[in-house]
Amino acid sequence: MKTVVHVVGARPNYMKIAPLIEALRPVAGIRQVLVNTGQHYDEAMARGFIRDLQLPVPDRDLEVGSGSHAVQTAHVMMRFEAVCLEERPDLIVVVGDVNSTMAAALVGAKLLIPVAHVEAGLRSGDRTMPEEINRIVTDRLADILLTPSRDGNENLLREGVPAERIHLVGNIMIDTLRRHLPAASLDRLRGRVQVSDRQYAVLTLHRPSNVDRPETFRGILDAVGAIARDMPVVFPVHPRTRARIAEMGLADAVRPLTLTDALGYIDFLSLSSHARLILTDSGGLQEESTALGIPCLTLRETTERPITVTDGTNRVVGTEPSSILAGYRAALTDGGARRMPELWDGRTSERIRDVLRTALFG
Ligand code: UD1
Repeated sequence: MKTVVHVVGARPNYMKIAPLIEALRPVAGIRQVLVNTGQHYDEAMARGFIRDLQLPVPDRDLEVGSGSHAVQTAHVMMRFEAVCLEERPDLIVVVGDVNSTMAAALVGAKLLIPVAHVEAGLRSGDRTMPEEINRIVTDRLADILLTPSRDGNENLLREGVPAERIHLVGNIMIDTLRRHLPAASLDRLRGRVQVSDRQYAVLTLHRPSNVDRPETFRGILDAVGAIARDMPVVFPVHPRTRARIAEMGLADAVRPLTLTDALGYIDFLSLSSHARLILTDSGGLQEESTALGIPCLTLRETTERPITVTDGTNRVVGTEPSSILAGYRAALTDGGARRMPELWDGRTSERIRDVLRTALFG
């Protein structure tokens, strides 16, 4: 019997691990252990996702909570090391680019346990993003690198990763999206958000570079406020962002928007899949917009997901109000170019299962 330990910890992890656990379940000879680091802990950020995505109840909760990057990373490492010493995994699976991803990969590498990284190879080229550091370190240490798109393979090869470690498998988030799309409907949100199909925009913001700087945050809100004169803008607010709005006195700037608390997976998919336009600084939402064929404006200077621009519906418009509004006008007229990226077909978890089965059993 081989033991596979899956690590999740923050909101964007759960939808990447759920289809893989399901795909591995029927494989004989594998015992799966789910470890939840607790980097995110609010109901809407963690347990709500676990329920929505029908993930098993985590076998281990590390309860690390919030903290500086060093503190959070260290806590995951200390507690995850203890789990590994008890569980003796044959393989550790980490996903995405959050602090928990990098911390678990470091533990695995030091204990000489093979590490598989789902969503390997993405690069923004911007080391001021903590996620970029997490991506570089995790990919440097991982033994099996599972990439969502060809640019990931190219980045890894350029960094000297041996080709035999790299597997182009496609985007596992799209497996989850396709599975839950039939349940996504605006009716689910009735009583909470009142909008009509394709007649509103959705905004999400949580990057420190956007919401921790008052001038940047206010500029974005001014531009989005102008868009809100054309169509309602619904803004599910991340806990970090809610705190900044209060601290920076931005209540007036968000008044033209329709604010909600952070939403669960299916509620958010209900909102995003019926929108006319998405404005975001999230990585995952750039991909989901492309899969849904909905125009997306990315409120950042760079993206680690260029395939969403070349093949999908994404425009990287930065954070200057004038460029946000120029991108908005362009998105309304062309609706966004679209070609589904290669292997974003809902079968990525099956391809990963096959790679992992070979790695474990030969
Ligand atoms: C983290 C990830 C980011 C991801 C994002 C999705 C890193 C470096 N960042 O950023 O890549 O896009 O998750 O949400 O791993 N908080 C709560 N409740 C929670 C979680 C957070 O109130 O359940 C508040 C706390 O005040 C905390 C702050 O949000 O200090 C930031 O949380 P943290 O996990 O450090 O980073 P995120 O901004 O969520």
